[in-house]
Amino acid sequence: MHILALETSCDDTAAAVVEQTPEGVFVRSSVVSSQIALHATYGGVVPNLAAREHARNIVPVVEAALRSAKLTPRDIDLIAVTQGPGLIPALLVGTTAAKTLSFLWRKPLLGVHHIEGHIYANFIRQTPQSNIENHTSVFPLLALVVSGGHTQLMLMRDHFQYEILGETQDDAVGECFDKVARLLGLPYPGGPLVAKRADDWRNLIPDPEKDTSESSKIKDRESKIQFPRPMLQSDDLHFSFSGLKTSVLYFLKKHEADMQNEDFVSEVCHEFQEATVDVLVGKTERALQEHSPRTFVIAGGVSANVRLRNRLRNLLDERFPDTKFLTPEFRYSLDNAAMIGAAAAFRFAALSPTEQSALAESWRTLNPDANLPLSHL
Ligand code: KG4
Ligand code: ZN
Repeated sequence: MHILALETSCDDTAAAVVEQTPEGVFVRSSVVSSQIALHATYGGVVPNLAAREHARNIVPVVEAALRSAKLTPRDIDLIAVTQGPGLIPALLVGTTAAKTLSFLWRKPLLGVHHIEGHIYANFIRQTPQSNIENHTSVFPLLALVVSGGHTQLMLMRDHFQYEILGETQDDAVGECFDKVARLLGLPYPGGPLVAKRADDWRNLIPDPEKDTSESSKIKDRESKIQFPRPMLQSDDLHFSFSGLKTSVLYFLKKHEADMQNEDFVSEVCHEFQEATVDVLVGKTERALQEHSPRTFVIAGGVSANVRLRNRLRNLLDERFPDTKFLTPEFRYSLDNAAMIGAAAAFRFAALSPTEQSALAESWRTLNPDANLPLSHL
């Protein structure tokens, strides 16, 4: 079964073809057209500009996905599209395109939740060898969802059964990375740049002129800056990041002159990343302890953060060796349509024949929803 998937919830226009086989879900093509250059001028995503770019790009991106998969519309069995959450003007372009194709090509249409897509990116398998033989064996599954709009710990006892164990009380973690980047004068999108500066700072040799021996390379340099770890000790699985952002703001106000110093900026990135990762790892540890899941996954754009991945890997290896740790491939960590196709493949397979037939008519009724809730099946 071939699924054409579309994703336009924020600032990436994406289309992909995924194939569901008895061995698992495989990506046949995944095309992402980024709008970073456009929004960088404004320091963030401008919804109407994003929509205009999506409208311009969606047809070429769909054509490219089909071409790269070496398929024609006739080979497609299902169209999937991100229905929400996201920016309404942006979502409207993807859903309208998907509804049009569904009507013209006479293909069933399925709306997908963006975060469900991020979680199911963990079930994409490139080769049959790496396939998980029996997907039911992955449950109960704990998911740490970390994106630009979400920070949640979720427990899944089966496919599409989501129990939110804890979530942010204010800013999402990706949003906080982006805001701190802005305070530091780093260009949009700041998250990956803050991470890069932090990783560079940690591994920097302080004075390569004086001492070049390999053993002098300081691993995990210590910083004198200290930011808070909000809610790390709280007796629950919730998060809060706005206080951390405010601490960075006040700290920078006191050290305005140092902002000219590149090493100082990188050190702030490092300490901010450590504070964030400490909290995410600490809360994950508590959730793993309380729920003993069979599998742990990370999902959303911040799952691309290497420091976070490494610290979580260490935690699992040292404290929870019986829990399987799945991570999405880096290219499926950030927004993409392959993850939407993967979630659609699992959803479609779980529908009754009557429900599957009804999707032939869903182009009439499917509408985007900026706050779409994650629904059980
Ligand atoms: O999932 P995503 O692509 O879009 C949303 O659904 O929100 O996540 C984007 C977020 C942005 O806030 C971006 O700064 C952050 O993920 N991000 C990172 C990294 N790569 C992307 N944050 C920290 N470290 C990274 N390497
Ligand atoms: Zn996303």
